[in-house]
Amino acid sequence: MKTYKIALIKGDGIGPEIIDEAVKVLDAVSSRYDFDFSYEEALMGGCAYDITGDPLPQETIAISLSSDAVLFGAIGGEKWDNLPREKRPESGLLRFRKELGVYSNLRPAVVYDELINASSLKPEIIKGVDIMVIRELIGGIYFGEPKGRTEDKGWNTMVYTKDEIIRISHHAFKIAMKRGKRVCSVDKANVLDVSQLWRETVEEVAKDYPEVELSHMYVDNAAMQLIRDPKQFDVMLTGNIFGDILSDEASMLCGSIGLLPSASVGDRIGVYEPIHGSAPDIAGQGIANPIATIASASMMLRYELGEIEAANCIDKAIKLALSDGYRTKDLSQFDAKEVCSTSEMGSIIANNTVKCKH
Ligand code: IPM
Ligand code: MG
Repeated sequence: MKTYKIALIKGDGIGPEIIDEAVKVLDAVSSRYDFDFSYEEALMGGCAYDITGDPLPQETIAISLSSDAVLFGAIGGEKWDNLPREKRPESGLLRFRKELGVYSNLRPAVVYDELINASSLKPEIIKGVDIMVIRELIGGIYFGEPKGRTEDKGWNTMVYTKDEIIRISHHAFKIAMKRGKRVCSVDKANVLDVSQLWRETVEEVAKDYPEVELSHMYVDNAAMQLIRDPKQFDVMLTGNIFGDILSDEASMLCGSIGLLPSASVGDRIGVYEPIHGSAPDIAGQGIANPIATIASASMMLRYELGEIEAANCIDKAIKLALSDGYRTKDLSQFDAKEVCSTSEMGSIIANNTVKCKH
């Protein structure tokens, strides 16, 4: 029997609670299929800083690189907000992404029919929304040089090389081939030179994928179109900071940021994490929604381990929990039959995997 080695980075705030539920579901699903998991925990974020003085200890990189995949909770919190930038939890996460070379960040925004009333938009606008935001994750303004700070001036630089744009574009087109075969590339080419290069390069890569329909949109318009008519989008391809913003926006189409998973992949191993943060204000209360993390575990099975049936099983088990009316507190006003805790939701989804295996 195959055993997959998973690095667990629980992190700060609600991180540990939601990862525990994802592990519960992974163990349930592996007992029904022909594989097993072994887990190794590693530290990152504020908790790592408190123990080691570094938000990303070298050991965490080593453990991650010797695993088949990384399942990640969330990091950060007010407690560490006043540290120098390189000691902050967020810096650890950015360094981690860079070290692992995970240049492509997949953030699906899929509206569950069961939660159609949870979105702040009208049901007819969002019913059937199924968008994949593909965000370049280790370049752009997050990493560009020069950057700096003096007393009365601060600066960052948005840089993309042609090679960086080529590799993320190929990934976006490949994913589009498996979906609706449409890519909308989002940039600010009317103002930024870096975006001009982005647009020209995406056009060149598109020639390798004649079946895929490519369009371009300026980022301000894209932000507006996502709210006006989200169903027009299939794959949205964009750079680091535009993707950061648009993926948060897309998440709210779905009702709660507590629902959305993500995958960060590159040439080495992938990192699977919810798109939400560590929510220190609700940590330890048992009210966090574990679905985004459980869905991230499903993405890990699908994209990293190739266990497609098991991934489908988890996705169905999540849907079943929702259609049976179970809701965590964030969604308790929306067609809830029963409001449940973080760990109850994990157990319900884990138990549902029995019914969802075919
Ligand atoms: C995200 C987060 C991170 C980012 C922060 C925590 C550094 O907002 O994963 O979207 O900006 O990439
Ligand atoms: Mg973000």
